[in-house]
Amino acid sequence: MTAWTQDTIRERAASLGPWFHNLNLRGVHTAPDHFLGDFPAVKWRSFADDIPHDLTGRSVLDIGCNGGFYTMEMKRRGADRVLGIDFDDDYLAQARFAAEVEGLDVEFRRMSVYDVGALGEKFDVVFFIGVLYHLRHPLLALDLVHEHVTRDLLVFQSMQRGANAMAAVKPDYAFWEQDHFDDPGYPKLHFIEHEYAHDNTNWWAPNRACSAAMLRSAGYEIVSHPEEEIFICRHVPRQAGEYGAVYPSQGGAGA
Ligand SMILES: C[S@@+](CC[C@H](N)C(=O)[O-])C[C@H]1O[C@@H](n2cnc3c(N)ncnc32)[C@H](O)[C@@H]1O
Repeated sequence: MTAWTQDTIRERAASLGPWFHNLNLRGVHTAPDHFLGDFPAVKWRSFADDIPHDLTGRSVLDIGCNGGFYTMEMKRRGADRVLGIDFDDDYLAQARFAAEVEGLDVEFRRMSVYDVGALGEKFDVVFFIGVLYHLRHPLLALDLVHEHVTRDLLVFQSMQRGANAMAAVKPDYAFWEQDHFDDPGYPKLHFIEHEYAHDNTNWWAPNRACSAAMLRSAGYEIVSHPEEEIFICRHVPRQAGEYGAVYPSQGGAGA
């Protein structure tokens, strides 16, 4: 077990950088010049009270955990088991180092959100924050998260662009009715063919109504919406019924 000092923490943090999470590791900040400020602490403050403060006996999955900020916060709330997954080894190395410095017993695993079915485990609380817009297949990911790993709460966030309005959308429209598609509050998922913010992993930017609609469609009831981008949801049966985008296993070829 390493006896970490501020100097050795600073040295190791620098060797593992650059960091996206500005963690405060015993007074050493890992991304003090973050373009979003003290991130994600500043985001966390906007919804921290919407999640149970005592998670004793509960399990948490943090999808796209990055440097482990939320993974560690959930452990600090007493969760029995906390697993962070990310498909980026560099971020996972940061998260493992941070948890060691903080003395927190959490697990990190290299895994894509598309593979969550392989976990074979459901979690009481699932964080799916800051990931959807980085995915080429966002609704598939939401379907998989709903189907395989969410037992109760989903904590969701996406970068959103476009109108903040939420139009009242009817369950159906006649073929010739089209005006509602041009309503700024109609759910819209903007496709980014090239780059956005100099980042070619930004594939989609939903508007606020679209985030809400995709969540409902994937089988999540929105229980609180503490700020524009954050949705706290409860797992409910899917609207689409038995056959959605996540097809039940048919037992393989020839079954
Ligand atoms: C914008 S960061 C968000 C980090 C953190 N969840 C937060 O909200 O502060 C996106 C993270 O998602 C991870 N990521 C992107 N695509 C992923 C995928 N298909 N499966 C798992 N993680 C993914 C990235 O490696 C990165 O760590």
